[in-house]
Amino acid sequence: MDIKKPYTPSATRYDQSSQMYRRCGRSGVLLPKISLGFWHNFGSVDPYERSREITHYAFDHGITHFDLANNYGPVYGSAEETMGRLMDDDFRPYRDELFISTKAGFDMWPGPYGNWGSRKYLMASLDQSLRRMHLDYVDLFYSHRFDPSTPMEETLQALVDIVRAGKALYVGISNWPLEAMRFAHQYLKERDVPLLIYQGRLNMLDRKPQEEGILDFCAQEGIGFIAFSPLAQGLLTDRYLNGIPKDSRMSKGVFLKEDMLTPELLNLLRGYQSAAEQEGRSLAEMALAWVLRQQAVTSVLVGASSVAQLEKNLKCL
Ligand SMILES: NC(=O)c1ccc[n+]([C@@H]2O[C@H](COP(=O)([O-])OP(=O)(O)OC[C@H]3O[C@@H](n4cnc5c(N)ncnc54)[C@H](OP(=O)(O)O)[C@@H]3O)[C@@H](O)[C@H]2O)c1
Repeated sequence: MDIKKPYTPSATRYDQSSQMYRRCGRSGVLLPKISLGFWHNFGSVDPYERSREITHYAFDHGITHFDLANNYGPVYGSAEETMGRLMDDDFRPYRDELFISTKAGFDMWPGPYGNWGSRKYLMASLDQSLRRMHLDYVDLFYSHRFDPSTPMEETLQALVDIVRAGKALYVGISNWPLEAMRFAHQYLKERDVPLLIYQGRLNMLDRKPQEEGILDFCAQEGIGFIAFSPLAQGLLTDRYLNGIPKDSRMSKGVFLKEDMLTPELLNLLRGYQSAAEQEGRSLAEMALAWVLRQQAVTSVLVGASSVAQLEKNLKCL
């Protein structure tokens, strides 16, 4: 019989609080500067015990924010199922110490109601997410992307009603263009459900939220910003400097493809690597510290396929 060792979080997990947490915009919420993303490495294809160890290490070091979405896996939904199993096995007593987010907006189930930004989709999707995660509510629910075909009022009113129904405490948007974000901010503010946070890709290789004015707007309006793929899916680490490891994301060829690793990019990465070495730190540390220095950034949302990676990434603090 498989008897699981009970999880007891480290008693020192909040010892570094003063350097670990940042206020999310002008809200009451503090988020850890490093948050843990469940996009990869938490699906049904991944070993549960490894996922479990990563979350334990995270929580033991003050990482209180776990970020999910309905379709993280693979298979779709399975990262949320892993979260549900983790709640049952380990985290239930610590629910109020955790800030758990999920999203809907990309394809999730077949037919016209399992994608984009309709009220029909968002409401049903969050109910499914809560069932998979064995939760009564999430701390944060996002519209995962802007839907040019659905009236913004419909998507945003669904977010408002989700909060009113007690299924999420806060709402956010991800991958929305600036003009739509302005509208969302105003619409939500008028209904007393302020836009807590914007989730966008920001790293040393992709500075779009800066170039497009998203970060300026967040700073001006007191909205938090959480950066996804801060390591450019692993490019901004030593992972690919000497070839493509067999167990790497790039070797799977789905979200990170070999043809992205051009000689020009490799040169740039090697340049960054030697600059980091001169400062006595790793490229990953340098890349995360860079994101955390940008205005309005509350947190960087890292992925990790091992405890060792997360341990290295925490050194950026
Ligand atoms: N809102 C959105 O549309 C959106 C989109 C994408 C992501 N996200 C969120 O952002 C989270 C993070 O995204 P991401 O996984 O792309 O982030 P990332 O931190 O840029 O990349 C994580 C990957 O980089 C590699 N890595 C991490 N630390 C390393 C280290 N110290 N040394 C060597 N390699 C290292 C690992 O890949 P290997 O597998 O190769 O080990 C790891 O899985 C997601 O989980 C999700 O929550 C949101």
